[in-house]
Amino acid sequence: MTKITYIEHDGTSHTVDAPEGLSVMEAAIRNMVPGIDADCGGACACATCHVYVDGDWAGKTGERSSMEESMLDFATDVRDTSRLSCQIKVTAELDGLTVHLPEHQG
Ligand code: FES
Repeated sequence: MTKITYIEHDGTSHTVDAPEGLSVMEAAIRNMVPGIDADCGGACACATCHVYVDGDWAGKTGERSSMEESMLDFATDVRDTSRLSCQIKVTAELDGLTVHLPEHQG
């Protein structure tokens, strides 16, 4: 199991055990982490699973695809560390990953 920590805008922290193969979005939904809506169910078509990857982890979560880039145009307050969490696959390498949740989501 890979541990992932989601930090809400107000600082509330949720650490979950995520099986490999799920997405970071799916692990949040399964554990009822607030702040991730995932309206499209992970099809990279809604941008309501927007997260900010904690600085140290940006290199390990991979690059945004061009489709993800396009969808992020619909998100608010997009930053360099913005990702769509449905596009990040949970792997053992991501054990300890921390992501921050945007203020206006959920
Ligand atoms: S769940 Fe819709 S873009 Fe990620």
